Amino acid sequence: MTNPILEALTQHRSIRQFENKSLSPHQVTELVDAAQHASTSTFSQQYSIISVTDPAILKEIAKITGHGWMLRSGHYFVMVADQYRNLKIAQENGTDPYILHSTDKFLASVFDTAIATENIMVAAESMGLGGTIMGSILNDPRQMIKLLHLPEMTFPLLGIALGYPKDKPELKPRLPKIEFHFSNHYDLGENFDQQLLDYDQLLSDYYRSRSTNGRTETFSHHIVSELNRNHNLRADLFSIIQEQGFMAH
Ligand SMILES: Cc1cc2nc3c(=O)[nH]c(=O)nc-3n(C[C@H](O)[C@H](O)[C@H](O)COP(=O)(O)O)c2cc1C
Repeated sequence: MTNPILEALTQHRSIRQFENKSLSPHQVTELVDAAQHASTSTFSQQYSIISVTDPAILKEIAKITGHGWMLRSGHYFVMVADQYRNLKIAQENGTDPYILHSTDKFLASVFDTAIATENIMVAAESMGLGGTIMGSILNDPRQMIKLLHLPEMTFPLLGIALGYPKDKPELKPRLPKIEFHFSNHYDLGENFDQQLLDYDQLLSDYYRSRSTNGRTETFSHHIVSELNRNHNLRADLFSIIQEQGFMAH
C-alpha cells in the first residue's frame, strides 16, 4: 500500500457490533462535513441527511430493517434523496419544475446520496469508527416517510449505523479482478466458469473459517438465494417513488 487512504479503503468491513458509546456532536459534524464535500451532480446538492436520535424512531427503524443491532450503534443517519429543496427554489423563482420530476433527476439524487453515504463511511473509518450502510430501510419506505416527516420529492434511500467497533470481522474477499475490471470492452472471458469456481471456493473458505456467523456459502449460492427471496418484497418501490413525485417521465 502506498498511502493511508488506499490502506483504509481496502480495509473496509461492515461493523454490526458496537461499544456502548455515542458519537460526539463534533464527530457528527465532521462526518456531515465530509459528506457535503463529496462530488454532487450538476452541483445541485440533491440529498439531505437526517440524524435520528429519538429512541422511539430508532426502534421503529430497527423493526423495519430487522436489524436490532442498530439500536446499539453510536449514531444513526438516514440518507434522503432530495429534490424538495430545489423544488422550493424553482417555485420561488417562478421556474417550471418539470425537469425535477424526471428519471434523470431521480437518478442524480440517488447518485448524490450514495456518494455522500460512502464519504461518511470512509470518514468514519478514518476516525476509528465503523458501521454498516443499510438498504433495508427500503423494506417499508412509506413508514420511513411517515416517521421522518419526509415531504414530496424526497425519498429515504439508505441508513448508516455507526459507532465504536466491538469486533473486527475478517475482510470479505471480492471478485477476481479479471471478472470485474475490463479493458475497452465488456468481457467476462473464456475462463469465467473456472474463475467463478475458484472464487466460490475462496468465499466458502472465508465463511467457514470466519470467527463469527460461520456458515457454508459460495458466491453463486448467495446470488441464487438472493434471487429466491420473497418476490413480493419491495414490489411497490416504483409506485412509492412515483407517489413522492419522482420519475414522472
Ligand atoms: C447499498 C447498500 C445497502 C446495504 N444494506 C445492508 C443492510 O440493510 N443490512 C446489512 O446488514 N448490510 C447492508 N449492507 C452491507 C453489505 O452487506 C456489505 O457491504 C457486504 O456484505 C460486503 O461486506 P463488507 O462491507 O463487510 O465488506 C449494505 C451495503 C450497501 C452498499
